Amino acid sequence: MDYQKQYQHYLSLAHEALEHKAAFCFDADSEVGKAACYSLFSGGKRVRAVLCLAVCDMLGGNLQTAADYAAGIEMLHCYSLIHDDLPCMDDDDMRRGKPSCHKAFGEATALLAGDALLTAAFEAISTAPNASIEAVSVLSSAAGAKGMIYGQELDLRFETQRADAAQLETIHANKTGKLIQAAVLLGACAAGALTEDKALLRRYACDIGVVFQIVDDILDVVSTSEVLGKPVGSDEENGKSTFVTLYGLDTSRRMAQEKTKNACDALEGYGEKAWFLRELAVSLANRKQ
Ligand code: IPE
Ligand code: IPE
Ligand code: MG
Ligand code: MG
Ligand code: MG
Repeated sequence: MDYQKQYQHYLSLAHEALEHKAAFCFDADSEVGKAACYSLFSGGKRVRAVLCLAVCDMLGGNLQTAADYAAGIEMLHCYSLIHDDLPCMDDDDMRRGKPSCHKAFGEATALLAGDALLTAAFEAISTAPNASIEAVSVLSSAAGAKGMIYGQELDLRFETQRADAAQLETIHANKTGKLIQAAVLLGACAAGALTEDKALLRRYACDIGVVFQIVDDILDVVSTSEVLGKPVGSDEENGKSTFVTLYGLDTSRRMAQEKTKNACDALEGYGEKAWFLRELAVSLANRKQ
């Protein structure tokens, strides 16, 4: 199968699970439910869902379990975006080509929609067929105060101070890398992966996670809001410490390519079975949106 077709296949599995879980968790009569669904179904590349399904597939696991885990990680990611756009965070008015959740529904409802998506993520994971406690633990530690939230804390702290190289790596590894890692590890959990597999997949995920945010930093400078579906120049406006401010565009691009190569090298032992995960890593490094 070719890469695009395979991506679409994973996407449709994830969508079916997302619709099912959202119908279970959100009420159409509730304004918070509407706001959560507005953000959840307004597009998005669903990279984390695809990663989860692709890892499980490569390891020969149950794709139904992985699809529910994929729905959970996308719900959690969507909550992080809603809160990230709030005036007290990045104060961005557009997301996925539409008004941000707080612009469409007001701040209080957007805050609650984020909370509802965070909670629904754990509902989705814990009600998957053969759900494991390990999967719940993977997601909670990646999302929590030592994971994505820690990254967001540092991201805000380094608006007023310049981050050095190590600090910047820590910001990116946490605010973006941890959920990407969780997506990969949830796929591994769904397949009942061995410890050795998890270690190799974690290496892959750590690199592509940081690359994902390096490219996000680059696109904020070189792209347009029409292509991205979100404002450009937001990082500069907020005085953020990014790969572009620390290294410039050329070095940032080179670092993204080097880390992508490392990510692919981590999967060497899987041979042809890892073809999709390798292509995915390369396409994330070269993405335009
Ligand atoms: C945006 O994530 C926020 C970052 C962590 C860089 P995505 O680029 O995956 O956003 P969607 O889900 O495709 O909208
Ligand atoms: C977002 O980083 C990370 C999380 C949402 C956790 P950014 O603030 O750079 O993401 P965008 O550019 O708004 O999508
Ligand atoms: Mg941010
Ligand atoms: Mg932002
Ligand atoms: Mg950004």
